[in-house]
Amino acid sequence: RPLLDPPPPLPALLSSVGFSIFAFLAALYLVPALGPSFVNKGLKGRDLLKVYSDPIPESQGLVCAAIYILLLIIFIPFPFSNSIANLPRKETPLEGLLGAASLHHELSVYLSSLLSLLMATLLGFLDDLFDIRWRHKLPIPLIAAIPLLMVYYAEGGNTHVVVPIPLRPLLGVLVNLGPLYYLYMALLSTFTTNSINILAGINGSEVSQALIIGVSVILNDLLYLPWPMDFRIPLHLLGSQAEVDLGGPWRAGMAYGSSELVSRHLFSLYFMLPLVGVCLGFMYHNWYPARAFPGDTLCYVTGMAFSVVGIQGHFSKTLLLFFMPQIFNFVLSCPQIFGFVPCPRHRVPRFNADTNLLHPSTAQFPRPPPRLTVLILWIFSALGLTKLKFHPSSGTIVEATNLTILNFLLIHFGPMNEKRLVQTLMSVQVAGSVLAFAVRYGLAGLLYDG
Ligand code: UD1
Ligand code: MG
Repeated sequence: RPLLDPPPPLPALLSSVGFSIFAFLAALYLVPALGPSFVNKGLKGRDLLKVYSDPIPESQGLVCAAIYILLLIIFIPFPFSNSIANLPRKETPLEGLLGAASLHHELSVYLSSLLSLLMATLLGFLDDLFDIRWRHKLPIPLIAAIPLLMVYYAEGGNTHVVVPIPLRPLLGVLVNLGPLYYLYMALLSTFTTNSINILAGINGSEVSQALIIGVSVILNDLLYLPWPMDFRIPLHLLGSQAEVDLGGPWRAGMAYGSSELVSRHLFSLYFMLPLVGVCLGFMYHNWYPARAFPGDTLCYVTGMAFSVVGIQGHFSKTLLLFFMPQIFNFVLSCPQIFGFVPCPRHRVPRFNADTNLLHPSTAQFPRPPPRLTVLILWIFSALGLTKLKFHPSSGTIVEATNLTILNFLLIHFGPMNEKRLVQTLMSVQVAGSVLAFAVRYGLAGLLYDG
């Protein structure tokens, strides 16, 4: 007999869709309504890639975060109404206790997630106000992840990883990473928050990443819901892994394990649906030419929301697959972030006002760079990741294009206007998600047995 209550009924999911539509409308209305108050308080920025210099309200992610978190708080009773109504009707005291424990557990998952989102909002807003230094802001998401990790631990969280079939003779079927797994999960939140923030600087870039990753997570969650038979058949084509995961809950008649799987993905849907709603509403105002800027607040809140669902939903590796463009941009950025190559305050592409086109921006070397820097730049340039300029007589490097995916796209597809560049970036993100699904449900079937 299942220990946990069966997953919350459809009404909770439908209310979540309703909340998400409300989040969209609230962002659509409140962002322009509150913008002038932000400008009055000095929270404004100049659009670097335009000819005009009108002040644009900055940190509008705070409006989005407020809408998002308030709606998540109002939503609390919905998924739990079923369990709460059932509690007094448990037949034996033991069943009553188990029901209460499971309710407490699910509440602690939900509340610790809200705590992490609030910390991300605070950090993001402080960063907007004070431009916190890298070495100071990096550890904060690590601390914000502790409540999530404690809840993961309390539920006897899995720290084993399944070894791919070819490596099993060496390592066995399961490897227990123990504390290393917790370190990995804590670093995940640092990565998701910062990686969206450093893929930024053109209108719509930050929010479109959050939107596409959010939609990808939602699509992945939908695969795990107990659809009626007819819906399920085409999904079987996705490969063996999907068949097991999807067929499981139905064939086993909602057994303990699979009902837990469904609950986890429902939890993820409750957090992702309103996030996508709020991002879509904000995107309307942030789209080229932007009338509102997200600020670091939006990057941190959305990034933390992804970590929350990845950790609490136990699908952090699938989540990372949706971050492929961000991983590429982060690895590419490392020499500048860690100081091997000079990093200007803004690495956004260079704007040519006469043609309205964007070109790769550059970092300058007034003095010949040290040998390690030269080596890194040579490798990156051989891989087509940067373009170098040399001193005509001495032959030393005098200039390198900034190491970002935006400049990388401009190097390979040629100069384009800002709207085209953000559309290209979004296409890359969508292509990344398609590839992620192929890897997760196609390739994984070859390396792992069901
Ligand atoms: C990150 C990037 C930085 C990039 C900046 C742009 C790293 C290490 N840091 O810094 O290279 O220049 O984001 O956001 O990669 N802005 C625009 N158009 C936009 C969005 C922003 O011109 O569509 C400008 C505005 O002047 C805005 C400012 O960028 O005020 C915001 O920059 P901020 O988010 O504070 O920069 P960082 O996150 O520190
Ligand atoms: Mg930023």
